[in-house]
Amino acid sequence: MAGFDIERFLDLAGAVKTDDLDWDLCGRIGITPAEARILRYMADTESHTVLYMRDLLAGHSTRDPAITSFLSVWVYEELCHGRAISKLLDAAGYPEPADHYTKVTQGSSVRELIEAIGSHGAAYLTPKFIAVHMTWGAINEAAAAVAYQRLEALTANPVVAKLCNRMARQERRHFSFYYHQAKERMAGDRVAQFMVKTAIKHFWSLVGSGVAGDDNLGFVAAHLFPDEASLATLDKAEKPIRDLPGLEWFHRVTNDTRDKAAAWCAANGPAAVWPERLDRSSGLRMPAAPAAPQMAAAQ
Ligand SMILES: [Fe+2]
Ligand SMILES: [Fe+2]
Repeated sequence: MAGFDIERFLDLAGAVKTDDLDWDLCGRIGITPAEARILRYMADTESHTVLYMRDLLAGHSTRDPAITSFLSVWVYEELCHGRAISKLLDAAGYPEPADHYTKVTQGSSVRELIEAIGSHGAAYLTPKFIAVHMTWGAINEAAAAVAYQRLEALTANPVVAKLCNRMARQERRHFSFYYHQAKERMAGDRVAQFMVKTAIKHFWSLVGSGVAGDDNLGFVAAHLFPDEASLATLDKAEKPIRDLPGLEWFHRVTNDTRDKAAAWCAANGPAAVWPERLDRSSGLRMPAAPAAPQMAAAQ
């Protein structure tokens, strides 16, 4: 894999383009309640990014110009993802409650807080800990890109599809930065490799459960990844992580998503998965896709 050109990234960076999106068309076609819940989950996670940056921009990370430059732009792009999704939800008839951000921020789990304090402290102890943050970021960006790609493929609303496509592209660029940093910092460094392996094994979990709650995470997993074919797209996306030294065993994005989806289906039933769809061209509501989710058969 070629190296990451930080200057080119900075030149190309910016808010996801929304000024050419047809919000009236978006509103006319509408989105399903399931899509609205998924998009709200995504917006909540995106707008939380600034809190994660607080942990990333600590200790030795602050002395690396490539990392500080990247994070400055990254957090803005993620904020704009959240804003764009909120605008889309508003146009589709799902406006955000006035106190939503405050409620979501208060919902951060105790586990997240403890992990934040721990990682913040470790970041001051050794520059090798940067490799943990970079690997962590690479995993989450890979997962985010696939989630947007899945929604793009499933939605009947062309405006949702276009926005998801654009955000997925940016997520892949974010992944590229984190991944190259992780790879470089772990190469030939047994201590960094050990720290990454230990941290990922014991502390990593799917993005968003702390922010938006476990039930919402299960809902999103069940709707975006209802079968092995869709889960295979996740597995493919996380494959580069397995190429990092000490992480050959890593299938956690796929396996944890499968587990969350199965648990959600067991509690709520498979019928709730894509109860209705909208035809992109006509805007008419269509019955559920005929192929029953394989997840249901596994119960
Ligand atoms: Fe994002
Ligand atoms: Fe991202």
